Amino acid sequence: MTLLPSGFTILALETSCDETAAAVVRDGRSVLSNIVASQMDMHRRYGGIVPEVASRQHIRSLTPVLEEALAVLPDGWQNIDAIAATYGPGLSGALLTGLNAAKAIAWQRGLPFVGVNHLEAHVYANWLQVPASVLTSDSTPQDLPAFPLVALVVSGGHTLLALLHDHGHYELLGQTRDDAVGEAFDKVARIMGLDYPGGPAIERAAEGVTSSEALPRAWLRDSYDFSFSGLKTAVLHKVREHQAQTGTASLDTRFVAQLAHAFQESVVDVLVTKTINAAIQSGAREILLAGGVAANTCLRHELTQRASVPVRYPPIWLCTDNAAMVAAAAYYRFEAGVQSGWDLDVIPGLKLGA
Ligand code: KG4
Ligand code: ZN
Repeated sequence: MTLLPSGFTILALETSCDETAAAVVRDGRSVLSNIVASQMDMHRRYGGIVPEVASRQHIRSLTPVLEEALAVLPDGWQNIDAIAATYGPGLSGALLTGLNAAKAIAWQRGLPFVGVNHLEAHVYANWLQVPASVLTSDSTPQDLPAFPLVALVVSGGHTLLALLHDHGHYELLGQTRDDAVGEAFDKVARIMGLDYPGGPAIERAAEGVTSSEALPRAWLRDSYDFSFSGLKTAVLHKVREHQAQTGTASLDTRFVAQLAHAFQESVVDVLVTKTINAAIQSGAREILLAGGVAANTCLRHELTQRASVPVRYPPIWLCTDNAAMVAAAAYYRFEAGVQSGWDLDVIPGLKLGA
């Protein structure tokens, strides 16, 4: 382990999917700047992310995003001690833009460089210092997370449950066997004629509904794995049934609200139950929630209510893709003496703990 000097400042880039992001983080915790240029509007019209469009847009956005992230520093580049970038998992073309930019900067400036696993970065969003005013739960502790801990990573591309023994020591407990949770939200929203991205749209549609007819839950007994494709099909059947009954393709607002509620309840119940069981079985001291779907209020609330150990989750702006979380994860890599070579390539299918 290398003791990093106080004030150690990392510039990180994140381009794994449809957000071009740059951030400057000091001492692995203090977010000095966190700039995110979203391509959401560009992809919305296609109902999902188009990889080629994403890569081209990253190239356009990288320089302005980087300049904006650095603008907060009085001496600009002089303050930067190290560079980090996501190298996987994600879209290969998108990952390449950020990784190559980061390597070029590090090489040209003679700075240490490390590649970061995007899934690990999501988990490390929980290490970032958040101003008290944006803490959303009374139970969210302000100190650093305590090992061993169980992390639930739920995003548009991933759904996994991991046991973290220490920095860099992960055990994968379970993952999705089909759709990622965020992907299920996005697909189900589309079936119900709601906006992209589906997560926030479903959450909004379900607002105010207190009970609905239950949809199936895939428990996959004796496993921490998840499956959401059956639930998606169940939603599709409900929609078809409703259309046959009403004789029209359009769905009324009340039906959509009820179905959105039932879907969200089913997803949250399975995620929360499995996470809590994993925490009990592994003797975890804390539960960390991470990834874009961690922005879901119902999930946060239910997990906090049902868990017997503290539950920590980042504020919404650190749940979705950003580069501050990449810098936080990089800090502990540098502290462990890890650096990446110039030959580091993108790994679109990178797993947690690899
Ligand atoms: O982590 P993220 O920003 O990107 C990936 O790495 O995938 O996650 C994006 C996913 C999308 O599928 C989106 O629908 C979902 O997170 N999401 C939500 C909510 N906000 C975003 N899902 C459920 N409830 C939300 N409030
Ligand atoms: Zn992500």
